[in-house]
Amino acid sequence: MTIERMGVIGGGLMGSGIAEVNARAGLDVVLVEISGEAAHAARGRIEGSLRKAEQRGKITADDLTAALERIHPTSDLGALADRQLVVEAASENEQVKLDLFTKVGAILDDDEAILASNTSSIPIVKLGAVSGRAGHVMGVHFFNPAPVMKLVELIPSLTTSPETLDRMRSYVTESLGKRPIDATDRAGFIVNSLLVPYLLSAIRMYEAGYASAEDIDQGMVLGCGHPMGPLALSDLIGLDTIQAIGESMYEEFKEPLYSPPPLLDRMVDAGLLGKKSGHGFYPYSS
Ligand code: CAA
Ligand code: NAD
Repeated sequence: MTIERMGVIGGGLMGSGIAEVNARAGLDVVLVEISGEAAHAARGRIEGSLRKAEQRGKITADDLTAALERIHPTSDLGALADRQLVVEAASENEQVKLDLFTKVGAILDDDEAILASNTSSIPIVKLGAVSGRAGHVMGVHFFNPAPVMKLVELIPSLTTSPETLDRMRSYVTESLGKRPIDATDRAGFIVNSLLVPYLLSAIRMYEAGYASAEDIDQGMVLGCGHPMGPLALSDLIGLDTIQAIGESMYEEFKEPLYSPPPLLDRMVDAGLLGKKSGHGFYPYSS
């Protein structure tokens, strides 16, 4: 059965991008945020991204209007009841996600509805355990910016049914036109297991006064052909999110290379979260 009605929880960087991707693919999207104001802000982010896509000739003005009309922002979790799929993209905080999976697992009307998490590092099996529908819970990890990045990691847990994985594979490839890869339910999955130690190493290098932020980033852009350097990429991802991912990976493997360096902790404490807060390793205008 094709998924036509989906929901997204959290309308920050990733949730707004995931809602946009689904609406552009023709799905009806309920987008739940913590307040009416936050839901309104999420809609504004999506509209801004759609306008950028229109200006670049990726979509027409009619596509833009149609996609926006398919998105229903709200602060009411109950609006998810009739959804066939819900993708949770709230902040990278285990307690927040456990609470959402407990509530939303009980809200969904359809026993076959799938409850997925876009988490970067929190164990999927724990989210399934509190949901009351563990067979229908798995990880579906989109990449930032979701409207541009082709990859999606599919992460079944020990309790995910094979049918749920099959349905999500079809949804990602056929409905969204993205490229899935299969990962195991271990903190960091495939991409962040490789990426996060690299980003944390760049932050340590900067913290040690080894080189300027600009030179570290230019080194990787001009020397290795990366689209952006590690400190600019950290700002794009969000420093609070990198800190949380590093903590989950350290908790899982106890490898020092995953442990967030003190400078990252201090920047998060100071509210320097990167592009989303207007300042991280670099300043950003709104
Ligand atoms: N909608 C549709 N297309 C868009 C778009 C939008 N909102 N914004 C940009 N694009 C398209 C552009 O049209 C362009 O497409 P073409 O090449 O076909 O013309 C392409 O995206 C790139 O555009 P620009 O070079 O102008 O890019 P930009 O400055 O707007 O954005 C970037 C650049 C895509 C972010 C690029 O710098 C990049 O790829 N950076 C690396 C991002 C990355 O590594 N992401 C992974 C983060 S890790 C993660 O996500 C996992 C986790 O758990 C933390
Ligand atoms: P973000 O800080 O930009 O947004 C998180 C949003 O969740 C906020 O708008 C917040 O109001 C909302 N939220 C928090 N609690 C909520 C609740 N109970 N109900 C509804 N909404 C709630 O974070 P983000 O970067 O979008 O990350 C979201 C998830 O996606 C995290 O699990 C993160 O690890 C993952 N992820 C992030 C990236 C990235 O590059 N930032 C990439 C892939 C995956």
